[in-house]
Amino acid sequence: MSSRYRVEYHLKSHRKDGFIDWIKGLLASPFVLHAVSHDGDDNDELTTTQRVRSQYAEIFKDIEALIADKIAFDVRNNQYRQYEDATNDEAAIPLGQPRLDLLVPTIGTFFTELPLEKAFLWEDSRRAISTRRMVAPSFNDIRRVLNSAQIFHFIKQRNLNSSEQLRMCTFDGDVTLYEDGGSIVNTNPVIPLMLTLLRSKICIGIVTAAGYDEATTYEKRLNGLITAVHESDLPYHLKRNLTVMGGESNYLFRYYEDGEKFGFEAIDKEEWLLPRMCTWSQSDLDDVLDFAEKTLHRLKKRLNLPEEAEIIRKARAVGIVPGHKIDPESGKLVKYQLDREQLEEVVLTLQNSLEGYRPAQRIQFSCFDGGSDVWCDIGGKDLGVRALQHYYDPSNPIKPSQTLHVGDQFAPVGSANDFKARLAGCTLWISSPKETVDYLRRLVDME
Ligand code: IMP
Ligand code: MG
Repeated sequence: MSSRYRVEYHLKSHRKDGFIDWIKGLLASPFVLHAVSHDGDDNDELTTTQRVRSQYAEIFKDIEALIADKIAFDVRNNQYRQYEDATNDEAAIPLGQPRLDLLVPTIGTFFTELPLEKAFLWEDSRRAISTRRMVAPSFNDIRRVLNSAQIFHFIKQRNLNSSEQLRMCTFDGDVTLYEDGGSIVNTNPVIPLMLTLLRSKICIGIVTAAGYDEATTYEKRLNGLITAVHESDLPYHLKRNLTVMGGESNYLFRYYEDGEKFGFEAIDKEEWLLPRMCTWSQSDLDDVLDFAEKTLHRLKKRLNLPEEAEIIRKARAVGIVPGHKIDPESGKLVKYQLDREQLEEVVLTLQNSLEGYRPAQRIQFSCFDGGSDVWCDIGGKDLGVRALQHYYDPSNPIKPSQTLHVGDQFAPVGSANDFKARLAGCTLWISSPKETVDYLRRLVDME
């Protein structure tokens, strides 16, 4: 039984976020032990809610302190490593691990402190989490508290006029700015918010997996946004702070105007490629994509995927998309939906096979399940975001603590592609374009 449990846990770990799961476990105790009151007694109900609220808040306050401790620890450990590298002094003593790393081994890096207690009380005042008696604090409750805390952090930096203010906001495309496979039409409520960011001198990068080597597709899909930028009274140098990083980290385009013409212009790779990306050899890139393509063909056969499912090879990516079939009832051509399990089996096998393939170890790649398709892209959103941090200000690159990436795909590596952006900046994990708008409103309104 225990080994079966372990196998299942292992196989599902790609869907779990270790930190959120751990917080959920901590909040379960006060929920189980204290979120009970006697029916019909309003006073008792109120006392119970207050008790549960203060216990949840206390837990978030403790986690806030653990994060602050981890940040301080990581800074000291980095200094130690630099000292060790510089002096070759092996007698120097490392500091061990932060307590949070011991409690949550999969934890990543925090670039800023997070006011979690305040964020919890804010979310609770709107969503009445502590009044619930049957439904414990959920994954989504915690995801929202973490997002709110990140927003509060940036609002505070701005109010303090600190040097750690937000300088760049990057956005995923599908599901974050528009529905899956959609585009930004001129009524999209995200447009005025993005204009406000630009006006506040915050650079914007749309960092999407959708990879095309020419601007037209992006101009079509982002038409509502670029038209609004064109028609706005923003000074041109601020309009230029709008870019698209396509194919994760493969193609960079920047907004331009030329008379009545406007849109995106391609930027030469020499101007923005990170040094480590310049070391990748073309033959390794081709070998990796060939290998991934073969693996997809093999999986299509093994999993008995429908003939309609199409394998698409691009210069910097290869993917399997569902294709279309005739609906027997309506007689119309409809999109063929692959099952969730099929998509997961494909993405995990692809990732796993590539990890053991030598040329893939010499470059970087990202495999992810886009909800209806699976892709293997060269590069990753961490590189896309980092390249923009340097491109916008080469002499004083934007720091991860001054960067916010908004995306919907943060499940652990191997099945989601926004996950890697966590290596390069702070993040907001949203679940719909509406949530993106809600958070941005709070960020720009400075509530
Ligand atoms: P994102 O959410 O903006 O990162 O876009 C992800 C979606 O872009 C995928 O689910 C695909 O449907 C689509 N897409 C189009 N071209 C590519 C490509 O070259 N690589 C990966 N995804 C692509
Ligand atoms: Mg997305």
